[in-house]
Amino acid sequence: MMRSPPGKSQRNCDGTVTELECPSLFHYTITVPTKVIAVANQKGGVGKTTTAVNLSACVAALGRRVLLFDLDPQANATSGVGLEKVEGASAYRVLLGDGSLLEKIQNTAFDGLAIIPSEVDLCGADFDLAREEDHLKRLARAVQPVVESQRFDLIFVDCPPSLGVLTLNAFAAADGVLVPLQCEYYALEGISMLNRVMSQLHDSGVNPRLALAGVVMTMYDGRTKLAQQVVGEVRQHFGEQVFETMIPRSTRLAESPSFGKPIIHYDKYSPGAAAYELLAQEFLARCDKPLS
Ligand SMILES: Nc1ncnc2c1ncn2[C@@H]1O[C@H](COP(=O)(O)OP(=O)(O)OP(=O)(O)O)[C@@H](O)[C@H]1O
Ligand SMILES: [Mg+2]
Repeated sequence: MMRSPPGKSQRNCDGTVTELECPSLFHYTITVPTKVIAVANQKGGVGKTTTAVNLSACVAALGRRVLLFDLDPQANATSGVGLEKVEGASAYRVLLGDGSLLEKIQNTAFDGLAIIPSEVDLCGADFDLAREEDHLKRLARAVQPVVESQRFDLIFVDCPPSLGVLTLNAFAAADGVLVPLQCEYYALEGISMLNRVMSQLHDSGVNPRLALAGVVMTMYDGRTKLAQQVVGEVRQHFGEQVFETMIPRSTRLAESPSFGKPIIHYDKYSPGAAAYELLAQEFLARCDKPLS
């Protein structure tokens, strides 16, 4: 007698059996390489950290394994997910050749979201790294074992507000740069410099993979004519690189770091949470597009 392979089946009222699923004899595991995204803009206070923290949390909530890498000595992303600044916990020593970045990864209280925290010692990195050989590739080298471990689908690097050695290291390690732009008059100021630095790293072979991962408009207040004008100007400049989703100016978003929680865990039904959830979906849809 032939036996049918074991699988899920349903016995119907009339006694017949319907196969619900054809069991697969082979299991394929598709591994997608970890993507490293630097969240950067040398302008201060434009929403880099808010975007890095909240996009990370929303992407994690969508089931991806996310590492938030705090590369800013201000350590705002670290406190934004509820971690204390702890001496020796940052990537600083690893960047100088001491230990592995894998040892610096910590869990957060949020499912699917891990962090490499920052603390004040990273302040010295710009100066200390500049004296080291191959100083632009320190982070790329350090991050390699994390990428190879396949523990994460995405790594978001929160960069400091400068185009100093730390940011350049993030660019040298990144697949893409995500640029938050504040909806204000000088939004595009300094963007040509950012562009030039990215091109130099790309063309000189330091990081031939480097590309713009998109531009996200932050602190948008649709009631003002200025915000609408700025968005128009930025869309004209960057075209489809600008995400459809804009992040509204919202008190809840500004409050959530003081509770050590990303917005979706602080006030899930607020407009800020909805915006970062939409941004995460849009971001992943772009990430998942096959290369043309
Ligand atoms: N959409 C928003 N609505 C209201 N406040 C916001 C919003 N996004 C950011 N903020 C607030 O604006 C300030 C600057 O934001 P954030 O720290 O994210 O910028 P940043 O670019 O990382 O700054 P820095 O350059 O200092 O690292 C913070 O106080 C933050 O809470
Ligand atoms: Mg910041």
